[in-house]
Amino acid sequence: MTIKVPTPHIEAQAGDFAETVIMPGDPQRALFVAQKYLNDFKQVNDVRGMKGFTGFYKGKRLSVMASGMGQPSMGIYSYELFNFYGVENIIRIGTCGGIDKDLHVKDLVLAMGVSTNGNFMRQYDLPGSFSPIADFGLLEKAVSECRKRDLNFKVGNVLSSDFFYDDSESALAWAKMRVLAVEMESAALYATAARAGKKALCICTVSDSFVYPCENASSEERLNAFTSMMEIALSVALDI
Ligand code: HPA
Repeated sequence: MTIKVPTPHIEAQAGDFAETVIMPGDPQRALFVAQKYLNDFKQVNDVRGMKGFTGFYKGKRLSVMASGMGQPSMGIYSYELFNFYGVENIIRIGTCGGIDKDLHVKDLVLAMGVSTNGNFMRQYDLPGSFSPIADFGLLEKAVSECRKRDLNFKVGNVLSSDFFYDDSESALAWAKMRVLAVEMESAALYATAARAGKKALCICTVSDSFVYPCENASSEERLNAFTSMMEIALSVALDI
């Protein structure tokens, strides 16, 4: 496929994105990160409301752009950023449902590997199953940032599910294989990064728990938890 920038889904010009992009699912959260942390930022995308911004964090040029929900959406944006806009690193920041008994609402999960019930990998026509993994260097930096801040976090396998509302309630079956949490985008991000020879990491905050369904966090606690995830992603990005 020959595509030039702007692409079908991103109206930015060549050079509008920094080499590292922080990627929440939600466009409003992309705006929040830009307004709270970036200096001199400009909006580089608003196609379909999928907001993207580029600015400076502690003097380093960084971008933040939303991915939307699910592997197809993440697949489109990460593909275009890596392959057409020269982006080298994408750090996803998102929420997940905890399925590990040691994880509580507000804890962090660093996705070392991803399992999926989706079909995204089928396009690669591999003679077996592919294991999507995080870039080890980015993961190492994120672990060290979590330790520095004395946060509760776990590193391991997550499930990228195609179903938020899952009729078969299959999430807990994955816990038998020590999968830590469910989210919906990382498998596509890691696969797209691998195919393009680029780097990716997913950091998630536990927003709800399948093990402790009554657990709740106040909106202030949730915001603080999201804020620490954003700050970890920004510190990793600063150190690349
Ligand atoms: N499932 C999928 N994605 C999620 C969930 C969930 O329960 N919670 C937060 N993101």
